[in-house]
Formats: sequence, structure tokens, C-alpha cells
Amino acid sequence: MQIVILKDAQEVARYGADIFTTQLQRKAESVLGLATGSTPVALYQELITRNKAGLINFSEASTFNLDEYLGLNGEHPQSYRYFMNEQLFNHINIDKDRTHVPPGDAKNPVVACQEYEAKIAAAGGVDIQLLGIGRNGHIGFNEPSSGLTSRTRVKTLTKATIDDNARFFTADEYQPHLSITMGIGTILDAKKVVLLATGKNKAEAVKAMVEGPLTAACPASALQLHRDAVIVVDLDAASALNDLEFYQHIEAENQKLQAYLASL
Ligand code: PGA
Repeated sequence: MQIVILKDAQEVARYGADIFTTQLQRKAESVLGLATGSTPVALYQELITRNKAGLINFSEASTFNLDEYLGLNGEHPQSYRYFMNEQLFNHINIDKDRTHVPPGDAKNPVVACQEYEAKIAAAGGVDIQLLGIGRNGHIGFNEPSSGLTSRTRVKTLTKATIDDNARFFTADEYQPHLSITMGIGTILDAKKVVLLATGKNKAEAVKAMVEGPLTAACPASALQLHRDAVIVVDLDAASALNDLEFYQHIEAENQKLQAYLASL
């Protein structure tokens, strides 16, 4: 894992946006794996700004989101389809027909999960997958105990996740307890993975992901198996790491190596 420790959330968003910018400049028809939640919002704002400035082009890109609440259709303000339209897709030059979010209103959700996997495969696989991390170590809605080779499927949300996400729902609004989520195996199949985490409340989850054992008890620890996983955190989210200074040293050396390679 490449562990990048930055000062604050704004720097994390910019670093993440740089990775997506480079990806789209190298391959305009990239398949982007996207995420919802509070963390990616600043990154999406940065991408919108760069798109409006003509620095990045989404017209040939396609996207696959990690997850969706089961029981909400895309017009529901708490659905992840609605979130993605509002936070990103409505503001960039992407063809909406090429944006994919698991269908929360599918009549047969089991078949819908298989179809989602088939669509990702037909698109050539995800080039770069954006992730956040839950306080319990989840990625997507792969809660603790999720199989480390799991595929897109229906998952039950933990009480901790339901409580964490209750802030987005009004008191009288139905909050789903089930989701459709890409599996951990689906996520590990992405060619590159970028996980963003900011704030003190993520520090223990980040530590378990980076320094803990590979275990279904912390689904994000599966990223230890990925050959190109970049973990981008601010100082608060990094604050529980034992070897923080070592990671900063590696990253400084890595930057020197990249500068040398670029000079060849
Ligand atoms: P958050 O969610 O960005 O809202 O903290 C992250 C996640 O649950 O994956």
C-alpha cells in the first residue's frame, strides 16, 4: 500500500483529484469506480472545478458506484444515485447513460447484482476505484464479516452504519437496513484503488486497515492484498498509526524516485 499523509482534508481532496486527473488524461475512456459519503464531496468539487476549467474531460468516461440502498429509487433524495447526480454528474460533461449505480429499486435484487457485475466486466473492468472507509472498517457497504472475495450482492447494514448515516435522513424518513454493494473481490479487481480518510473518527479504522491483520473483521484490510492501493489520509486520520514517520519517509523517497523517473 502507498500511504500518503497530508495536512488536512483539502489537501486530501486535491491529491485524490490529481490521481483522477492523471487517469483521465492518460485514458479518456477510463472506467471510474465512485463512492458516496461525506469524504469524497470535496474531491468531487475539485473535479467539477477542473472540468469547468477544461483541465479534465469526462465525455468518454464511464462510472460505476460502489453501492446503493435497497428500497430507494434514484429520485429519492437519500439514494446514492440522487447524491451522485447532485454532487458530481449534473455538473460535469459526462454522458449520464454511462454512469452506473446499483439499482436500489430492482424487482429482483439478486439478479440485479449479477447484472451489475456483468456490466462492469463488459466495460473492461474498473480502472480506478475511489473508496471511503467506515468507522468499523467497511468499504462500500461491505460490513465486518464480509467475505474477502465477495462479489456484488445484497448486504445487511450494521447498527453502527445505520446510526452513522442517520444524519442524512429526517426523523420521519424511511432509512433502509439493506443495500446492494460491490463485493470486496469486486473492489480488489479494480486496477487501482484510492481510499480517502479524514478526521479523528477514522483514525482507528485506518490503523486497523494499514497495520492490523488481514481480516474480514476489518474489510478495508483486504486492500493489503491489492498491488496498487493508495491510502490518502490527513494527519487526524493518521494519528493512531504506529509507524507514521516511516510512512512519511517512504513517501518522500517515492517522490524522489518519481521525479528521477520523470527526468529520464
Ligand atoms: P463518510 O463515509 O465519508 O461519510 O465518512 C465513508 C464510508 O462509510 O465509507
